[in-house]
Amino acid sequence: MPTRIAVIGAGTIGPDIGYYLKSAVPQLQLILVDIEQAAVDRALLRFGNYAAKAHARGKMDEAEAAALMRGVHGTTDYDAIRGVDWVLEAATEDLALKQRIFAQVEARVSAHTLITSNTSSLPAARIFSDLKHKARATVTHFFAPAWRNPVVEVVRAGAADPDMVEYLRWFFCVTGKVPLVTKDVECFMLDRVFDNWCNDAAHCLGRATSAQIDSVAAEFVHAGPFFVLNMANGNPIITEANSLQAEAEGEHYRPALIFRSVASWVTSAVGKRVAVPAEAAAAVRDRLLGVLWSQSADILDRGIGEAADLNLGCRLALGFRHGPLDLMRDLGQTEVGRVLRRFATERPGMPLPRRALGEYQRFERGLLVDSVDGVIVITLRRPEALNALHDELNDEILRVLRRHGPDPAVQGFVLIGYGTRAFCAGADIGRFPAMLGDAIASAQYARDCSRLLAYIDAMDKPIVAALNGMALGGGLELAMRCHAIVAHRDSWLQFPEITLGIAPGIGAMAVPYRRWPKSSAIFHDMLRHANRLDATKAYEAGIIAALADDYGSLVRKAIEHVQALAGKPRALLDGPVAIAPFDAAPDGNAFSREVVGIIEEAVRAAAQASTLAAALEIGYRAFGRSACTAAAREGITAFGERRSPNFSQTG
Ligand code: COA
Repeated sequence: MPTRIAVIGAGTIGPDIGYYLKSAVPQLQLILVDIEQAAVDRALLRFGNYAAKAHARGKMDEAEAAALMRGVHGTTDYDAIRGVDWVLEAATEDLALKQRIFAQVEARVSAHTLITSNTSSLPAARIFSDLKHKARATVTHFFAPAWRNPVVEVVRAGAADPDMVEYLRWFFCVTGKVPLVTKDVECFMLDRVFDNWCNDAAHCLGRATSAQIDSVAAEFVHAGPFFVLNMANGNPIITEANSLQAEAEGEHYRPALIFRSVASWVTSAVGKRVAVPAEAAAAVRDRLLGVLWSQSADILDRGIGEAADLNLGCRLALGFRHGPLDLMRDLGQTEVGRVLRRFATERPGMPLPRRALGEYQRFERGLLVDSVDGVIVITLRRPEALNALHDELNDEILRVLRRHGPDPAVQGFVLIGYGTRAFCAGADIGRFPAMLGDAIASAQYARDCSRLLAYIDAMDKPIVAALNGMALGGGLELAMRCHAIVAHRDSWLQFPEITLGIAPGIGAMAVPYRRWPKSSAIFHDMLRHANRLDATKAYEAGIIAALADDYGSLVRKAIEHVQALAGKPRALLDGPVAIAPFDAAPDGNAFSREVVGIIEEAVRAAAQASTLAAALEIGYRAFGRSACTAAAREGITAFGERRSPNFSQTG
């Protein structure tokens, strides 16, 4: 971890980046540098306001808020950066200015000090061209607001040391960001989408007003292009960025002239739409989709970024409701072909897909898949939902297991979650409301979700779950189905279903009892009271096979476990199992008695079942029954409404 970082440029994004860094690494010494003392003062004030707000909203206690302000220093003196580990430049988007800054920086720091620029458009090859030591320099491009927006583009600059790029990727990932690695081209990956989306929106102004275009765009984004341009004071940025692209790649990228003469756009608030005549709406919609897919295909055809990153980045950083490749899939090849043909006639020169459209769909949307020493490491990556499992993610995991399982070079698999907070926060609760009140559909849903788990039961190659944070509900059921669990020391396990008024349906009431029968009393408490089980306690009980102190050694330990288990993964007990009796539920249990009763009955019956399959079936049906209770309706509605459930009236 770095101990001293200097952020140069105390405008808007510099202090926001500093605030993220200081929140993520509280002991950090942070130096904010600007040429103007007034800018430094404003930055420090903003810093203090953020900390006060976080404290007022209960996100930080008083000690944490105070720690955030300790070790933050603002200055106009470049000499203050001597001895830092990392200089992060976030000054105005001006090549000559940035080069002057880096000359001053390099005169004051060692040859190993990391240097990164927060440019959104200027390639690293250009801004660092005069540096003496280029291997330690690259672009780290944040998105507004940088303290909260998780995405950071990390640019694989030609002269940059690949280990340094990997380090940055690791650093951002373990400090709560979502780093996306891109090639070193003008505007990198996501701004190619954003800038051209805005530029083509401006080209549509002859057909519709800015407010109308934003209304049409609202089908695809939370805020329309003109609204965002107003917020970000973005007109000069588009002019600058698209001029760069025009010089590098052709006149078709030239920015619309209107950006030079308009200060701000007339448009409506987010969520408010205006009427648009049908023909104009159709033309604008086609143009917006056309430019989105043109840029997406170009990014993938030229290897500027990866498909899953593009899809995720557009949603997380740019506010798209769906990734561009998901839109392509959902609208279908005929419609995509029609839109692109129209786009080609209206915007000659702009890139078009170079491959058959189906080729752009060949990627895992919610997983990262790596091969390490003969072991396939599968990372669940849905950072926006704490890696919660939905049907598509379940299917993707299953596909990866099927694809790599038969390969003789593959010894087994590791399953881990992205980031440091969650292995997996359970099944995606978004799907639950539709099942309420339908026992048969709910039980079938549980059976369908279990296809992946049943496949794991039959695998002859080992799969080890590596818990990098919380493992909840369906996520814990998945981990427990693996042949072993290793965990970060700070991670924890929980079946929160009873807090939602439901029973956990995909194995929790049968599998742990057959895998670790001596710990049955622990599982009773987890199921009935949603008690959290810390990884250290689970380790003492033998549920977790090994503990790790950090993320790197967690992955390493998981791989070692796969290698040790190779050829002999342990199958689950098939016959009945003896379990501890249930104590009477203590008074004051805030949960539904009816659902606790369903759980207890299912656990007893599953323990007596003569086969694992029969035990699992008991669980699916119990889940179905629980979905028909008043408690389920209350619990799941409360989660959706972000309030605590009240089970006092539900029985
Ligand atoms: N399904 C779908 N989305 C989920 C999810 C799940 N199981 N668990 C978390 N998320 C989403 C949240 O809705 C939120 O999305 P939003 O930012 O769009 O509102 C995001 O992940 C972050 O979670 P949040 O609740 O804001 O974080 P937190 O730190 O306040 O709380 C938890 C974390 C895990 C305690 C809380 O998210 C939770 O209780 N999740 C449900 C866990 C559960 O019951 N799982 C079992 C289901 S079978």
